[in-house]
Amino acid sequence: MGKFIVILGAQWGDEGKGKIVDFLMHRASAVVRFQGGHNAGHTLVINGKKTILKLIPSGILHPNAQCLIGNGVVLSPNALLEEIAILKQNGVSIENRLHISDACTLILPYHVSLDRAREAAKGDKKIGTTGRGIGPAYEDKVARRAIRFGELFDEKILRNKLEDILHYHNFILTQYHHEEPIALEPLLENLLSIIPQLKPMRADVALLLDEYHRTNKNVIFEGAQGTLLDIDHGTYPYVTSSNTTAGAAAVGSGFGPRYLNTILGIAKAYTTRVGSGPFPTEQNNEVGQHLSKQGNEFGSVTGRPRRCGYLDLVLLKRAIQLNSISGLCITKLDVLDGLKTIKVCTNYRLHGKEYQAPPINTEEWSDIEPIYEELEGWQAPTAHCRSFNELPLQAQQYLLRVEALAGVPIDMISTGSEREDSIILRDPFEG
Ligand code: GDP
Ligand code: IMO
Ligand code: MG
Repeated sequence: MGKFIVILGAQWGDEGKGKIVDFLMHRASAVVRFQGGHNAGHTLVINGKKTILKLIPSGILHPNAQCLIGNGVVLSPNALLEEIAILKQNGVSIENRLHISDACTLILPYHVSLDRAREAAKGDKKIGTTGRGIGPAYEDKVARRAIRFGELFDEKILRNKLEDILHYHNFILTQYHHEEPIALEPLLENLLSIIPQLKPMRADVALLLDEYHRTNKNVIFEGAQGTLLDIDHGTYPYVTSSNTTAGAAAVGSGFGPRYLNTILGIAKAYTTRVGSGPFPTEQNNEVGQHLSKQGNEFGSVTGRPRRCGYLDLVLLKRAIQLNSISGLCITKLDVLDGLKTIKVCTNYRLHGKEYQAPPINTEEWSDIEPIYEELEGWQAPTAHCRSFNELPLQAQQYLLRVEALAGVPIDMISTGSEREDSIILRDPFEG
């Protein structure tokens, strides 16, 4: 039987999903993105060479891997072509390997203008979005006025839809935000000029996945962002505009949930977040500085510094529950190298009472006091260790304690950004 494994972020994104997808990809025939857009930044490092992928699935560096973009993704055609061009410059062939669902909704320039205008208008209360037009594009999808990938290929339909949609959005852009309108003709001209490049990638992704299933192939579902950025279950309103949790793997690709075998949750050995919003275990001190520096915690899309703090088991347990995570992959263990002691948050205290689960209302989060357990750090490096036994004893103990508190097995450990700086304890394809 082929295995269908979901790899997703269990925190606020940037957990190292791309690295792990790339590392496991030699075992699978295909990889599919099912939500998000080019707000994602997934970093792969192979023999010192860094590749940052935004829209294209993290299997693209494996010449035989098929890369699918499912209906749940919001797709900027121009961002896609830019990414393809960079890959081609680096000798990566995407010919006959990238397949995009006709049902993907598009991100077009008015979405970017709206995203940026809104953030500017919010001032201090801004979400800190990536400014890529993600939110407005998902709004258009739900409002049933979006243009879908498959509609690009009929000039008449495209012109009509663009006229209607610009009529609507330009009113908001000019009258409400006092921004420049987006002109129809140059936009249409740009789209028509790139259509020959896009057309060969049209696909029925749901059908392809069904074929892989019937022919016993292994497939990876690659999440973007992380559980706490989920539009329903995250730290609303400081979230992204898609469902980032495991159920979205099925909805966003057109694959039946009954056939998903493994849900691998990726979590850093600590926590980071980029953008605004609550973060109970944030460390604005020398520990935060250590994590930021040693972990090189700067956004791969926007270059913004990521906020850093201790591992939060209350949130990790919530992520395990929301996603039915079958096993964890703990990444960036090496970033903790050299700390004398390391804290993990086990409970929250809120208004004098202790809680094991986070409050749903994000307004209450500012009053949370994390309750920590303090563990011994290690001085010998874990960096580049490729087996559990090589890890310093205290690092092994840290992982075992995290595993016990989390209540699910640690399947994998990552000790560096290189593809092979990885340890498998329990094979995700055997789940
Ligand atoms: P993603 O969005 O979840 O794919 O993660 P990002 O690529 O945005 O951020 C993870 C960063 O950490 C990237 O720069 C990776 O190269 C790097 N990285 C991944 N795993 C490890 C690890 O185990 N140790 C270290 N030091 N860096 C890692
Ligand atoms: P990957 O896939 C970390 C954050 C933004 C902002 C919020 C909303 O690399 O883990 P958006 O542009 O989506 O409307 O922004 O979500 N965000 C991410 N943070 N990693 C990401 O992706 C993110 N994608 C969006 O910083 O707080
Ligand atoms: Mg990232």
